[in-house]
This record gives sequence, structure tokens and C-alpha cells, in this order.
Amino acid sequence: MDQTEFQVPQTLEDLIKQLHEIFSSDKINVEEVQTLMESYTSNPADWRKFAKFDKYRYTRNLVDKGNGKFNLMILCWGEGHGSIHDHSDSHCFLKLLQGQLKETQFDFPDSNRKNRELSKKWEKNFHENQCTYINDSIGLHRVENVSHTETAVSLHLYSPPFDSCHCYDERTGYKNKVKMTFWSRFGERTPLETSESKENN
Ligand SMILES: [Fe+2]
Repeated sequence: MDQTEFQVPQTLEDLIKQLHEIFSSDKINVEEVQTLMESYTSNPADWRKFAKFDKYRYTRNLVDKGNGKFNLMILCWGEGHGSIHDHSDSHCFLKLLQGQLKETQFDFPDSNRKNRELSKKWEKNFHENQCTYINDSIGLHRVENVSHTETAVSLHLYSPPFDSCHCYDERTGYKNKVKMTFWSRFGERTPLETSESKENN
């Protein structure tokens, strides 16, 4: 495998610049992206303007549209917020910027068997600056802020971008199509009439 060299990004802006370069090619090396995202040391001064919280659910805040190749966004998690979802055949990278998130991976439910609990593969806590990866060939995941006292902030890259996915019920395996929206774009709150959604990812 090619060893790609990169400069450690000093700021979120640097990271975005390097992501643009990587994604200008049609062939994506997952490890390369994951290593690059992990190498950026989170600095709240870089991302504070994108980090907007809601009391009731986690928010998705658009940071960069990646020349149409990817969406980069910051998710803000209140205590106890989370969901189980798939990724619409896209790559999904998740890096912790602040706090901790617990990831639990599941197999997709067997479509021949109705009303079955999702089978859990593993669970792991992710800490500041770590980066995890998933796509639909790996399975489903739940991402949640299990803390009762601390919020969490994470940076997500989805390629290609998508605007709907499915959320799952752990006990029955039933899924629900969900349209995803942004709480804010480029640091500005999305007007209320277009920001309604039941759930988000
Ligand atoms: Fe996800």
C-alpha cells in the first residue's frame, strides 16, 4: 500500500484544505483520511463558531461542502443524546473534538425475520482527537453521549454527501427513513422553517 505523507494540520482550516486535496481524487484511502483527521489536535478556537447546541437533541452544523465530494460537519451532543443509524452507502468518519462518545456497532437486521432485536458487535468509548470510521458494509452504529454531566462535540465527514438515512429501533430492528437537516450552516443558524426534522444523524 502506498504510504501517503501529509503535514500535520495545525488548524481546522489546514485540515479542510488537506481534505479538499485528498478528495479531489476519486480513489479514497480510508486509513489516510482517518490518520489525517486524527492528527489534527482539537482547538476550540478553530471550531467554536460552528458548535451550536440544542437542549432536546444533538445538532448537525455544516462546516464545509467539500467541493461536492464530501460534507464536513460538527455535531453537538447534549447529555444522553444519540441514535442508531445507517449511512446511505457513504463513508463516515467521526472525530472527537471535545468530550467522549460511545460507539456501538450492530449487524443490519435480517430482512427475513421481523421484530428482532439488533445484534450488537462491540462497543467502545472514543476520546478527544480519536477518529472512527464506518460504512454500510461494516454495519450500523449507535453514537451517543452517555455522560450525565458533560456535553460532546464531534467532527464528521460523509462522502459522498447524503441527506437522508435510516434510524433503527434496537429492540425490534424496525427502521425509519429520516431526512437530515442542518441546525446551522457556516456558523449561521438555519432559518427555522427549514430546520425541522424528527431525528438526525
Ligand atoms: Fe453515523
